[in-house]
Amino acid sequence: MARLIVAVIVVVAAVAAYVVLEPVPDDVGERPWAVKMESFRRTWKRHLKWWTPTGLNQWLEEKSAAASRAAGPRVPYGEAVFDRVPVRIFADEPAGAKKAKRPAIVYYHGGGFIRGSVDNHHPVTALLARDLNAVVVSVDYLLSPKYPFPAAIDDCTAATVWFLNHLRDFNVDPARIALMGDSAGGNLAAAVSQRFTFDPKYRDLPKIKLQALLYPCLQAFDFQTPSYQQYGDFKTLLLDRPLMTFMWDSYLRGNKASYREAMRINNHTSAAAKRSPLVKKCLSHDLIPDEFKQTGYEAPATNFGDKSIYNEIKEVLLDPDYAPLMREDLRGLPEAYIITVKYDILRDDGIMYAKRLEKAGVPVTWKHYKKGFHGMFTSEEDLPTVTTPPGTQCVSDFLKFARKNL
Ligand SMILES: *[C@@H]1O[C@H](CO)[C@@H](O)[C@H](O)[C@H]1NC(C)=O
Repeated sequence: MARLIVAVIVVVAAVAAYVVLEPVPDDVGERPWAVKMESFRRTWKRHLKWWTPTGLNQWLEEKSAAASRAAGPRVPYGEAVFDRVPVRIFADEPAGAKKAKRPAIVYYHGGGFIRGSVDNHHPVTALLARDLNAVVVSVDYLLSPKYPFPAAIDDCTAATVWFLNHLRDFNVDPARIALMGDSAGGNLAAAVSQRFTFDPKYRDLPKIKLQALLYPCLQAFDFQTPSYQQYGDFKTLLLDRPLMTFMWDSYLRGNKASYREAMRINNHTSAAAKRSPLVKKCLSHDLIPDEFKQTGYEAPATNFGDKSIYNEIKEVLLDPDYAPLMREDLRGLPEAYIITVKYDILRDDGIMYAKRLEKAGVPVTWKHYKKGFHGMFTSEEDLPTVTTPPGTQCVSDFLKFARKNL
């Protein structure tokens, strides 16, 4: 009994210490304490995973997947395979019912290309289906490092093409299709939009009405943008530079991934490449308004680099299918709704893309949340969608926009 009491005291003290010491900023969200607790829960869940046996982990994951499926709004859904790709389809009425045609959202979940699932994004996808009376297709694409680039983008493309060719079966209006994703899913939504726009192979498909990119990761060339400089070594709830470079590296080279140390300091590119016109155009920090450059921001040096690493990876690094920001000409892309959040190393990826799309004449609605944090639109794990008020606000803002514009 005494031991139990000691154990309880230790745990309570650890939680208290963490909440006080955890470097989650004090102005994150309307209820910073709730955000800190969520951060604590997620961090420990991740740590515990390393220490628990695989079998137990699997069991826990199945439990968490079941909890996620039960957590969102109750919307009828089914599993299917589009082309070769498994998907989950949410539809609030039986397909073929005699009703007005509905809009559709093809959703690509986040998780840094290495994790995430249609299960842990079940609540948010169900919510979109219910609140927009939309058909939502959530794509279960292949993950890195087992299946590196281009497996994910190819799966997402294949499933979406199949869907676009079968809209009638789902009573979907071909003029009201959105591609949407959070984080790595935002990368995939942007990349699929680019393929459909620029690859003549897809010319005959219905045109995408909207690309909705929630705090997307869009480039792996520069890990010293103002937001990486500001938050890179600082756990902002979900994401720091070591984790993000690991994810990009895994997506790039699968199990061979080993360049994240070089990536962290921008040593995975050559000096010449850093100064190339393409990079200057696509990733210029001038695109980022000054208010986002905190005091202490420094333009990153361009006089160093590792040529041999760069030569090995440059083809993918510069490929817009991998990094949509690296496309030079963005004219003609679908209307974009882009969310960026303050506490996020990926903030400037989203800002640069929004600014460049605008310059290219694409209609852009850019929403920046001053108390926001990465992952706030969806809960990445098993909680019901959206755990904090700023999250709720960004969801309702999007719903309002989509009701009017999709
Ligand atoms: C970058 O890589 C080169 C070549 O491997 C190496 O000589 C150099 O020390 C690295 N630079 C830094 C800052 O680590």
